[in-house]
Amino acid sequence: MIDLARDAHSGLPDKRQVAASFSRAAASYDSVAALQRAVGSQLLQRLPATVSPQRWLDLGSGTGYFSRALAERFPEGQGIALDIAEGMLQHARPLGGAEQFIAGDAEHLPLQAESCGLIFSSLALQWCDSFDSVLAEAQRVLRPGGTFAFSSLCVGTLRELRDSWRAVDGFVHVNRFRHFDDYQGLCAASGLTVLSLDTQPEVLHYPDLRSLTHELKALGAHNLNSGRPSGLTGRARMRALVQAYERERQVLGLPATYQVVYGVLQKGIRP
Ligand SMILES: C[S@@+](CC[C@H](N)C(=O)[O-])C[C@H]1O[C@@H](n2cnc3c(N)ncnc32)[C@H](O)[C@@H]1O
Repeated sequence: MIDLARDAHSGLPDKRQVAASFSRAAASYDSVAALQRAVGSQLLQRLPATVSPQRWLDLGSGTGYFSRALAERFPEGQGIALDIAEGMLQHARPLGGAEQFIAGDAEHLPLQAESCGLIFSSLALQWCDSFDSVLAEAQRVLRPGGTFAFSSLCVGTLRELRDSWRAVDGFVHVNRFRHFDDYQGLCAASGLTVLSLDTQPEVLHYPDLRSLTHELKALGAHNLNSGRPSGLTGRARMRALVQAYERERQVLGLPATYQVVYGVLQKGIRP
């Protein structure tokens, strides 16, 4: 029930819900985003040393932490921060980094063809229904020789929470994630050259289940799937969930795995 259709990433929440959830989370996001900062920093390190864009795009820019990092790394370049959540843009705008803050969708970029030398996107594209549309848009918007660097999440993410819910009832309680081999297949077919594509697990630990679910909510990343059960979560079901998750406990606490995908792709140079 949790696994998504392997080629269609169907069953993701409505985009308006995603935008509203992240907008609500804009004020709390930075205080709980340690993993997001670590992953985005890894992605920055993976940029080829030759990248030096006149214009860069931070795609799914959130609170703008990496827009500001990109502005520091490329002081000569002009930056665009783009996000589907207006609340995130409102939070990021006064903090600077980018020249432009644009509300938009990664699957339909409101940008001209061949207008960016770098598209950087950290932990946003797992929210997109069609990763091939994202890749087609990257191919269109990048200048020849331009770089598309992304991090995302694949199957295995929040495995412990998903399995614990499965032990309690049959509902979808955890956002769906694409398989890593789908990322591989779609990137290989995109027309962009794949410079690197790999996946790495990151495991966070929490003292209790409540700390994990509060954090997901503060990030705006709690379950928004259409298959989620409606109404309040009954106390008995919560107790059963806590019991099931306790079976995963390790010395450091309750583990939550994030299966992170890193990709660096390049658009060819016309002969
Ligand atoms: C987990 S946050 C990551 C923010 C930032 N990149 C970071 O690393 O801190 C994901 C962001 O992606 C945005 N997002 C989700 N779906 C999107 C889409 N289809 N197009 C553009 N942005 C999207 C969300 O609004 C949210 O701000």
